[in-house]
Amino acid sequence: MPQDRITAYYDKKAKNYISFSEKYRNVDRTQVIELMDLKSNDLVLDAGCGSGFFTLGLYNMGHKVKGVDISPEMIKELKKKGVDGLISSIVAFRSDKKYDHILCYGVLEFVDDVSLALENLKRHLAIGGKITIGVPLVSPKSIPYVFYHLIVNRKLVHIFTKRKIGRLINSIGLRVEKDVMINALDYCCRLSIDLQSNLN
Ligand SMILES: C[S@@+](CC[C@H](N)C(=O)[O-])C[C@H]1O[C@@H](n2cnc3c(N)ncnc32)[C@H](O)[C@@H]1O
Repeated sequence: MPQDRITAYYDKKAKNYISFSEKYRNVDRTQVIELMDLKSNDLVLDAGCGSGFFTLGLYNMGHKVKGVDISPEMIKELKKKGVDGLISSIVAFRSDKKYDHILCYGVLEFVDDVSLALENLKRHLAIGGKITIGVPLVSPKSIPYVFYHLIVNRKLVHIFTKRKIGRLINSIGLRVEKDVMINALDYCCRLSIDLQSNLN
C-alpha cells in the first residue's frame, strides 16, 4: 500500500530528518512561523510534524505545541526532544482538544483525500482558530520531487495549482487570509473559517 510505504520511508528518515531538512529542503522556518502569526497563549497542533522541524522551533519559542504524525519513528524522535506527540494519520486523528492554530506543512501531498484531511483539521479548530498549510505547487522544481516519490515509494504525490488548492479550501468553508511562496516550490497559506459560507 502506498501509505504504508510512505510511513516506512519516513520511519527510516526519522533519526536525521531535522538535519536533512536544514541542509537540503531549503524551507524557511521563520517565514512559515511568521505567516502563522501566533499569539503567545495559542495551543498549536503540528499535523504531520515529522521529527519536529517546525514543532521544536515553536516549542523553543515558548508555544504550547503538540505533534501528530503517521510515522511511529518520527513521533519517537519528537518525544525524545521533550515534545508531546501522537501517532496517527491526520485524516483519522481525533481529539477532544481544540487548537488555536494547526500547521500542516509538507504533508497534504501524501494524503489520498486532501479534502477529508483538511475537514478533519478544521474539526479540531478552536473558535477563531487558524490553519497554516504548505503544499508543493506545479513548477519545473516540483518535477524531481514527484519522480523521486514515484520511483522510491511508488506513490504519486499531489502537486497543486493555486487555483486547485484555493477551490478545495473554499469548498470546505475555509478562506485564505494570507499566503507566501517558500523556496519557489511550496505555496504556504494561512486559513481561517469563512463565516459567510459556514452560515449558508
Ligand atoms: C515531508 S515530511 C514533513 C514533516 C514536517 N511537517 C516538516 O515540515 O518538517 C512529511 C511528513 O508527513 C507524514 N505523513 C505522511 N502522510 C501522513 C498522514 N496521512 N498523516 C499524518 N502524517 C503523515 C510523514 O510521516 C512525514 O513525517
